[in-house]
Amino acid sequence: MSVNVGDLDAIAAEIRQRISVAADQLALEQLRIEALGKKGRLTAALRSVGALPPEQRAAAGARANALKTEVETLLTERARQLQTARLETLGDREWVDVSVVPGAVRRGHLHPLTLVLREVKAIFSRLGYEVALGPQLEDEFHNFEALNIPAEHPARDTMDSFYVEGQRWLLRTHTSPVQIRYMQSHKPPIRIIAPGAVYRRDATDPSHGSQFYQFEGLVVDHDIRLSDLKGTIEYFARSLFGADRRIRIAGDHFPFTEPSIGAAVSCGLCGGKGCRSCKAGWLEILGAGMVHPQVLRNGGIDPAHYSGFAFGAGLDRLAMLRYNVSDLRLFLENDVRFLRQF
Ligand code: DAH
Repeated sequence: MSVNVGDLDAIAAEIRQRISVAADQLALEQLRIEALGKKGRLTAALRSVGALPPEQRAAAGARANALKTEVETLLTERARQLQTARLETLGDREWVDVSVVPGAVRRGHLHPLTLVLREVKAIFSRLGYEVALGPQLEDEFHNFEALNIPAEHPARDTMDSFYVEGQRWLLRTHTSPVQIRYMQSHKPPIRIIAPGAVYRRDATDPSHGSQFYQFEGLVVDHDIRLSDLKGTIEYFARSLFGADRRIRIAGDHFPFTEPSIGAAVSCGLCGGKGCRSCKAGWLEILGAGMVHPQVLRNGGIDPAHYSGFAFGAGLDRLAMLRYNVSDLRLFLENDVRFLRQF
């Protein structure tokens, strides 16, 4: 291949022009390879200088070398221009949000029912209570008879049950049987809460489910009175819902307590005046009462020497009140869009 000076000038002119409009570093690099690479057009021209007649060689060689140097310089300058232009518009075109953490790992957290249970445990542990557990599969004696609920008692209708293996075992319908089990295995003084799952054959609606959570409380000692129970409920309600809450105690009936009471806490939304989310200013939180003498006896404790109080509350219900959740089913559906909010 041979090249004359006119060819060189034509190649140089074309490359000069293309460098001046190269859009980015990649285009520049391609031009460099095309002109100065091993198989580049200027490289080929330089190489062919040796084949020229001796009288043309020096001039052509000098010209080709000069062009090579010029192209190198142009490439460097255009690269610098492009870089400067890029930096000047960087803020507008290539901004990054430095507060974004790419691919952040979402940390898990505790379930709202667990959070409320932890609060409940913390409140009662400050009063010296221990946590006791009982089986979820119960026998009729502990779940019913020992709590003064004999076979034909109407209270059984309100606790429609899941039986297994004929009529001997059932899924416990409340946490109250833990009272009996604990008294049978411990001597007073007794101060426990007993949290856990309970089961009833209830149709599911926003405030009922076939599985839910309760916690039971039991205190047995010398001279335990109704006023102790009232003070305990008040301390509990204010600790969980806020210092400005009032409690209302009203008569109720449970077969295993005498007298029996129901406790309500003043509504936090309306302050007790009455609003859409409460019953005339009050929210029922638990059932309670003085432990029936026969129940003490069934637990192996002599009612002539000891007295006690008990209470039972729905954990789901407390969580609904605590977090303003209107449908209990949300707690068990495990929809993370719901759970993430706590
Ligand atoms: N076991 C009752 C229920 O499930 C709740 C209850 C009421 C428990 C009064 C108690 C109590 O310990 O004293 O509806």
